[in-house]
Amino acid sequence: MARIIAGVASSHVPAIGAAIDNHRTEEPYWKRVFSGFEKSKEWMAKAKPDVCIAVYNDHASAFSVEFVPTFALGCAAEFPPADEGWGPRPVPVVKGHPELAAHIAQSVILDEFDLTVVNKMEVDHGLTVPLNLLFGSPKEWPCPVIPLAVNVVLYPPPTGHRCFMLGRAIRKAVESYPEDLRVVVFGTGGMSHQISGPRAGLINSKFDKAFLDNLTKDPAKLACMPHVEYMREAGAEGVEMVMWLVMRGALDDKVEEVYRYYTVPASNTAVGHIILENKPRGAGRRPAARKRAAARKAKTVKSPAKRAAALAKPTIIRGR
Ligand SMILES: [Fe+2]
Repeated sequence: MARIIAGVASSHVPAIGAAIDNHRTEEPYWKRVFSGFEKSKEWMAKAKPDVCIAVYNDHASAFSVEFVPTFALGCAAEFPPADEGWGPRPVPVVKGHPELAAHIAQSVILDEFDLTVVNKMEVDHGLTVPLNLLFGSPKEWPCPVIPLAVNVVLYPPPTGHRCFMLGRAIRKAVESYPEDLRVVVFGTGGMSHQISGPRAGLINSKFDKAFLDNLTKDPAKLACMPHVEYMREAGAEGVEMVMWLVMRGALDDKVEEVYRYYTVPASNTAVGHIILENKPRGAGRRPAARKRAAARKAKTVKSPAKRAAALAKPTIIRGR
């Protein structure tokens, strides 16, 4: 059975891609940004997922404003880098996983999330920049990647709650796929930024950091946040962060935050990054919690001998 092992959220600032492509990563300005992803690359090299699902938004590269799907799942075998105005980025073609993608499409649509199935699509910096940040710049991406494009460019985008629930549905889909695959879900975009109008350049670090805190500990609170709050607090383009909730919805309720990085600025954007792991399947609670659970169980056992046995036996909570 396939399972989701972790979620990764990362900004996808286009200037980060330009810095990589133009060999400027060692310049002090960019070194600060990239230094925050060194540990992430180490983590990813150890995690070695079999497949990634990348939740991102297209920036009028694959979809013009004539046709903007709310949720579009890439079911093709490959996704070439898009030409965003100065030629396609010199990054590998993204290889998809058509079988798992088709399975997700079927499961999620039958669960009443009306995805658009996309059988041909180019992918822009929204997807390729986070791949660079987590995988570096290899000749080939190390695993298949299923793109899930979310509309956050043309009002109205989906609500955070809808994104969160879609994550839940994706998790159910992945867990019903028969092949034993380890899957990592990416949420991309954000953090606070506004690229035009009187508030251009807006950064709200307090909001961003609270968002990261809640993403780990209280995602249900974030799922209730209306669009206007994202836009007021994090700028018009800050609404991209609803995509992080797809990733978070695909994880366990309780997760382990294994890494976080936040820096300002990259271009005119705050950069945020977090790695959340699901507990391994079958893993027990921490020793103290296990003891408390055993004590609670022992209280309900009347026989002293059985009570002692219950206390001696660890209580294992199965992972989902
Ligand atoms: Fe974006």
